[in-house]
Amino acid sequence: MAKIITVAHQKGGVGKSTMALNLALCFQDQLRVALVDSDLQGSIYHVKDDFPGLAILTSERISDISSLDYDLVIVDTPPYLSNKLNDLFDLSDFVLVPTKAGFFDVMAVRSTLALIKFSQAKNTHLKAGIVLNMIKPRSGITKDISQLLQSFGTPLLKTMVHDRVSITRSSMTSGILKSTDVKAIEEITSLAEEIVNQISA
Ligand SMILES: Nc1ncnc2c1ncn2[C@@H]1O[C@H](COP(=O)(O)OP(=O)(O)O)[C@@H](O)[C@H]1O
Ligand SMILES: [Mg+2]
Repeated sequence: MAKIITVAHQKGGVGKSTMALNLALCFQDQLRVALVDSDLQGSIYHVKDDFPGLAILTSERISDISSLDYDLVIVDTPPYLSNKLNDLFDLSDFVLVPTKAGFFDVMAVRSTLALIKFSQAKNTHLKAGIVLNMIKPRSGITKDISQLLQSFGTPLLKTMVHDRVSITRSSMTSGILKSTDVKAIEEITSLAEEIVNQISA
């Protein structure tokens, strides 16, 4: 059965689609990967033609996702909460929650985390992690923010993704791995490793 990684956060503009795409590209050399756009106005589905080597699918029915014949399915989700998200979490092995590091961004993450916890009560093998995204280079995050995030009870991943022009461009080019930005490549690779370790733990 395919492992399912879902990227979710009810806020738009936090980097869900960008991460889903780059993670899929990162795994595609080792695994049979499908990237599923569960957003009907999905941005990912629109770049399909730019990534001929990657299976980019849309899915209106959650049941389709669990029956896909791939090793790994990465699901990008729309910027709102819905019942569909509950069903999706029930099927997932890992939910990745990207957030920016501002106070209001971090507070907003709680409703997505609540849904994940609701699902974890039934789906006991579901793991989840918060990943900080678009961190200003050299500034890091404040102690207050990291303490606040840690108080939410969902693990904060060690990898932080910084605000990088190469990442903005990655969805128009062939992904971050093909760029010359070594630091960005390192971040995405380390994020992918952290997720894999969590799923197999
Ligand atoms: N780490 C990053 N550095 C710079 N730009 C980023 C980064 N992550 C995402 N972006 C940009 O931010 C915008 C929103 O990202 P997107 O993936 O569409 O978010 P979401 O899917 O959560 O709405 C896009 O223009 C994207 O290119
Ligand atoms: Mg998106």
